[in-house]
Amino acid sequence: MEQKELVSMAFNAMKNAYAPYSNYKVGACVLVRDGNYFLGANVENASYGATSCAERNAIFAAYTYGYRKDDIIAMAIVSGGKTVAAPCGICRQVLSELLNEYTPIILSNGRETVIKTMGELMPMSFGKEDLD
Ligand code: THU
Repeated sequence: MEQKELVSMAFNAMKNAYAPYSNYKVGACVLVRDGNYFLGANVENASYGATSCAERNAIFAAYTYGYRKDDIIAMAIVSGGKTVAAPCGICRQVLSELLNEYTPIILSNGRETVIKTMGELMPMSFGKEDLD
């Protein structure tokens, strides 16, 4: 799957976002080595803090099916806003553990695309090794 397709799958997932409070829809797609892919969309809740972001839903789905960070080739995260949105702090913490440092993360709002890695988005992150 090429980059354009990955982004387009994430936009498909974005259509299923449940965002009645913010009206801000986000979609994500995690691509794994064997060609499988996992979608996620943000799912909000009247108790706002219970909301789950698109990228967490997508990566949790990949892990649920047994894939791990070394299986993941790339991830796309898209939104319909004016800006190219990068993952929130909670998602950065989650992705810093569940993605490799150099895995490309394609961010797009449909007009502009930026590629980042967790190494760039979350330097000096708190992780497993700190608990040893
Ligand atoms: N959101 C995401 O899904 N991913 C992000 O990286 C930023 C925020 C969602 C959470 C909430 O449903 C809405 O966008 C507004 O914050």
